[in-house]
Amino acid sequence: MRALVTGATSGIGRSIAEKLYSRGWDLILTGRNEAALNEMKERFGANAEVIKADLADRSEVMRVYEFCKGYRIDMLVNNAGYGLFGRFEETDLEDELNMLSVDIVALHILTKLFLRDFKKHDHGIILNVASCAGFMTGPLLSSYYAAKNYVVRLSFAIAEELRRDRSKVSITVLCPGPVDTNFNNRAGVSFSVKPITADYAAEYALRKAFRRELIAIPGLAVKLGVFGTRFVPHKLLSAIVYGIQRSKTTGGTAPAAAKE
Ligand SMILES: NC(=O)c1ccc[n+]([C@@H]2O[C@H](COP(=O)([O-])OP(=O)(O)OC[C@H]3O[C@@H](n4cnc5c(N)ncnc54)[C@H](OP(=O)(O)O)[C@@H]3O)[C@@H](O)[C@H]2O)c1
Repeated sequence: MRALVTGATSGIGRSIAEKLYSRGWDLILTGRNEAALNEMKERFGANAEVIKADLADRSEVMRVYEFCKGYRIDMLVNNAGYGLFGRFEETDLEDELNMLSVDIVALHILTKLFLRDFKKHDHGIILNVASCAGFMTGPLLSSYYAAKNYVVRLSFAIAEELRRDRSKVSITVLCPGPVDTNFNNRAGVSFSVKPITADYAAEYALRKAFRRELIAIPGLAVKLGVFGTRFVPHKLLSAIVYGIQRSKTTGGTAPAAAKE
C-alpha cells in the first residue's frame, strides 16, 4: 500500500507519514522544505520517495500528480495548509491568494484527479485535512476559516456521491481544534486552550479513515463545540470566534498579516 502525503515535512502531515510507515505503508512525501524531505527519505529508505513542490503553484501540483502516476497510490492525504491572521482589509492580497491556492486549489485538484483514478479501480482512501474552523466563520482569520469550510463541504458532497455509487472509495475529513505544530509558532500567537499533539491527531485521523468514516474530530471538547455551532446564531458564533482569535495574539490585537 502506498500513500501520497502533502505537507509531510512537519506537524500533522509528518506524524501521518510516520504512522503510515510504521504500519508498513510506502510513501510519497511532498513539501517545500528540502532538508526535512531528505531527512525523511533517509529515515524511511526505499519505502519513501520525496518530491519538493510549492503547492501554491498549480503547475507544481500537476507535477506532483504526474510523479505519482508512476506508482499505484492507495491513499491521498491532502494535509498541506496554513492560515493568515489579521483583519481582512489588512492581510496582504498576494499572501492570501497563495494561501487559498494551497488550502483550496491544490486540495481540489489532487482530490479530483485521484478520485478519478481511485474510482477506476473502485479502491482508495482520501483523507482531507480541514479544521473545526470548517464549521464556523472566523473573524481575524477569515479566509482560512472560509477555506476550511470549502474543504469540509467539498468532502461531504463527494462522500454522498460515493455513497450513491456504492463505491468502495472513501473520503474522510479531519477537523481538529488546536494542534501543537508550527501553525501558530509561525504566526507568533499562542493557543488559548491546550492543544492536542500532532501524533494524536494523526492517529485519530488514520483510524477514522481506515474505518471509512466521513468526519474525524479528535477530542471531546472540540466535538461538542462543533455540535454546539448548530444551535448558536451565526452573529453570536462570529463574536465568540473573534474573541477566541483576539485572545491568541500577543497584547490582544491581531497582527496585520502573520502566517501560520
Ligand atoms: N495546528 C493546528 O492547530 C491545526 C488545526 C486544524 C487544522 N490544521 C491543519 O492541519 C494541516 C497541517 O498543518 P500543521 O498544523 O501540521 O502545520 P505545520 O506544522 O505548519 O505544517 C504545514 C505543512 O504544510 C506544508 N505547506 C505549507 N505551505 C505549503 C506550500 N506552499 N507548498 C507545499 N506545502 C506547503 C508545509 O511544508 P513546507 O513548509 O515544507 O512547504 C508543512 O509540511 C493544515 O492544513 C492546517 O490547516 C492545523
